[in-house]
Amino acid sequence: MTALSVSTSAAASLRADALVIGVAKGPKGIVLAPGAEAVNEAFEGKLAEVLATLGATGAEGEAVKVPSATGLKAALVLAVGLGEAAEDGYGLEALRRAAGVAARTLAGSKKAALLLPAESAEEIEAVALGGLLGSYAFGTYKGNGNGKEPVGELVLLAARKGSKDAKAAVERAAVVGEEMNRARDLVNTAPNDLNPKGFAAIAQAAGKEHGLKVEVLDEKALVKGGFGGLLGVGNGSVNPPRLVKVAYTHPKAKATLAFIGKGITYDSGGISLKPAGHNETMKCDMAGAAAVFAAVVAAKRLGLAVNVTAWLALAENMPSGSATRPGDVLKMYGGKTVEVLNTDAEGRLVLADAIVRAGEENPDVIVDVATLTGAMVLALGNRTFGVMANDDELRETLHTLAGEVGEQSWPMPLPAELRKGMTESTIADLANMGDRMGGGLVAGLFLKEFVAEGIDWAHLDIAGPAFHEGAPFGYTPKGGTASAVRTLVRFAERTAAGDKA
Ligand code: BES
Ligand code: MN
Ligand code: ZN
Repeated sequence: MTALSVSTSAAASLRADALVIGVAKGPKGIVLAPGAEAVNEAFEGKLAEVLATLGATGAEGEAVKVPSATGLKAALVLAVGLGEAAEDGYGLEALRRAAGVAARTLAGSKKAALLLPAESAEEIEAVALGGLLGSYAFGTYKGNGNGKEPVGELVLLAARKGSKDAKAAVERAAVVGEEMNRARDLVNTAPNDLNPKGFAAIAQAAGKEHGLKVEVLDEKALVKGGFGGLLGVGNGSVNPPRLVKVAYTHPKAKATLAFIGKGITYDSGGISLKPAGHNETMKCDMAGAAAVFAAVVAAKRLGLAVNVTAWLALAENMPSGSATRPGDVLKMYGGKTVEVLNTDAEGRLVLADAIVRAGEENPDVIVDVATLTGAMVLALGNRTFGVMANDDELRETLHTLAGEVGEQSWPMPLPAELRKGMTESTIADLANMGDRMGGGLVAGLFLKEFVAEGIDWAHLDIAGPAFHEGAPFGYTPKGGTASAVRTLVRFAERTAAGDKA
């Protein structure tokens, strides 16, 4: 993993492979962002001109390399674009993305110094986090020489006066970044190497390492407890389901949050099999479980004064002679019955069990995170998750917090009339499908049926942003993105600070 540190050295004397500066689009062309002064001096004040000649414009995503000048110890200068020039500081997301681009561009080198326009602790944290996320590489299956090693070390320059705050900001970024990269690793791991039992074992090991209480219900315990949703989804697979509880408690906590993650380690669709073209990336169907797991470990490492319980609803959705059939009725945890009309609508079945179980512990808030519906991807695209809730304020809070930490989200409704299609099963309390139109909202309404009276609940449908298939951008690589982790951590922080959950 890439190391992060803070230095108060002068830019010119820094020993690094590259110095990274920010550039932006001014009204009359490219401008240098604050932080680049010393480097510009070494170029006799002509750095912007040199960069313009090389075709740089300062646009977001741009990365232009220039051989260094006399007087600088580093061999290379890398200019990364911040977008439109700003008078009063650059936005945090522009900083994260620029640092991410720099880290990706410099893969293969040992040490890079970031001289981006970051002064406040927030800005320094953004640069550090972007750098750490941008240097992520999933190397598990790549042979030697196949792909460059991530940049070894990122050094952030800080003024001597603010170096203590800078250190704390960088440490915080390291926790969040490392936990996000943990979630990405879990999502990227091939489904033949990560089944429910294996995921539970990883949770147990990490729990031990970080001092979290982990309880695992195996298939026997699930039968004993009557977890019909998890069992119904898992029974087509040779890899049985698990329900994992990871608990973090703080002695001064005034509130308890339950985070529930959909953990389908592979979603083939089951008997309602997905066609080719729809199942190649379905190892990502446990991204919700990875996110809530990463968030609870981060809450512990940050020592937040709030209790956080993560519930991982783990199963593999496969077709076989023992698989649930379309038409089967499942008895869910808590007693409700569900007619399974489509075995590909499996996420809501495992989540329902977990929501009822989590509700028994009477948390102040439940937030579930799930790659739940293709309909949400159609509605919001590949980079935005939908936020639904049984409480307007909670929905708005999560949407706002997501924006603050650089995650794109949008509030979605739970229209009462869409509930009807789901309750028209002639033989069970509910069907696991309703109207096709508004399918993402129908799924949300299904989950809502399982939330105990009086508990505030929100549902994040991350089916779009959880797994990135296009070219890398900013700090987002191909594959797992760790969608929702930052929003959950921010929500836990806000709750710890005593703001209404
Ligand atoms: N895991 C999928 C949803 C999904 C789609 C995740 C695309 C990531 C990217 C989910 O289990 C599913 O198959 N949903 C069905 C529900 C339908 C059968 C009611 C869907 O969205 O088509
Ligand atoms: Mn499915
Ligand atoms: Zn699924």
